[in-house]
Amino acid sequence: MADQLISVEDLTVSFTTDEGRFKAVDDVSFHIGYGEVLGIVGESGCGKSVTALSMMRLIPSPPGSIDSGRILYRDRDLLMLDKKELQDIRGRAISMIFQEPLSALSPLQKIGHQMAEVLRIHTNISVKEALRISETWLQKVKIPDAAERLQAYPYQLSGGMQQRIMIAMALMQSPDLIIADEPTTALDVTTQAQVFQLIREMKQARTSILLITHDMGVVWDMCDRVAVMYASRLVETGKVADIFARPAHPYTRGLLKSIPRMGDGSGGKLEAIAGSVPSPFNYPSGCRFRDRCPHAFDRCTAEKPEFVMVEDGHTAACFMARRLVDA
Ligand SMILES: Nc1ncnc2c1ncn2[C@@H]1O[C@H](COP(=O)(O)OP(=O)(O)OP(=O)(O)O)[C@@H](O)[C@H]1O
Ligand code: SF4
Ligand SMILES: [Mg+2]
Repeated sequence: MADQLISVEDLTVSFTTDEGRFKAVDDVSFHIGYGEVLGIVGESGCGKSVTALSMMRLIPSPPGSIDSGRILYRDRDLLMLDKKELQDIRGRAISMIFQEPLSALSPLQKIGHQMAEVLRIHTNISVKEALRISETWLQKVKIPDAAERLQAYPYQLSGGMQQRIMIAMALMQSPDLIIADEPTTALDVTTQAQVFQLIREMKQARTSILLITHDMGVVWDMCDRVAVMYASRLVETGKVADIFARPAHPYTRGLLKSIPRMGDGSGGKLEAIAGSVPSPFNYPSGCRFRDRCPHAFDRCTAEKPEFVMVEDGHTAACFMARRLVDA
């Protein structure tokens, strides 16, 4: 058995648009262990969702294409599977919770019908039995009046409820890996807390989780390890405790400074990273963070920084990484 449940190796994904072709994900590698929660964090547009969609082979083609890489799930390369094999993997082995629940739910079918269909893809159970199981899952995700909700259409339910239904649909197939792409963005604070509680329960049940977020606070609360992305590339990976204690990449250091802290005298004000993310059509040469980096020097323009090891299991793609950690 492989050490890791899933390994993404050297993944590169491009899109061709009217303005030209660009890499949305550029040579990204990471792994997720059995029962582990990995966070992927980074600013909008850095390639988090495209990475996740690639792992499910859901990149629309055209305009997208997976140019290279391997996605090893229990030693099988998901990029080499045919349609039937992929169908087996989706849902049962890996399921995804999307940013927008309505993108995963059909507007034209009742909730009960959709949930029962999901269950019946991989099993021979009757519709009646599938509806009974669906109802118990709605109760597990704390949806009141579950039997009634099965008769509802998605638009008749609040965003929080739609999100919990999508989570129930993901969980009831008992997948090995759940990919949760900003699962709480559209939700109010109370519902966010409930969704995170469900994710914690999945972790306790030894499900591996890939949790995509903008928010380092969420990473701290929920994840074992974190992968930081910037401008289509990975820039730092490691255990959450190590990265919070000794962030090595200037971008990660900036992200950590932008977490509001109670009682630090800032009044919870964010210190945002100066400048903006470069366009993928026009990434700077060398290090893509150099226009915003307070430590940039000549070499950062001329050469792409490769990953260096900062400590066991902690790597960063920056020429200054070791010096910054030692300082
Ligand atoms: N279907 C598509 N066609 C063209 N470009 C796309 C498509 N999907 C994503 N992109 C582009 O790929 C890049 C990476 O997008 P991605 O959705 O992965 O960002 P993200 O990190 O998930 O951002 P956010 O935090 O806003 O969700 C962006 O420049 C985006 O515009
Ligand atoms: S390689 Fe250079 S520009 Fe890039 S983050 Fe490190 S110091 Fe900054
Ligand atoms: Mg996204």
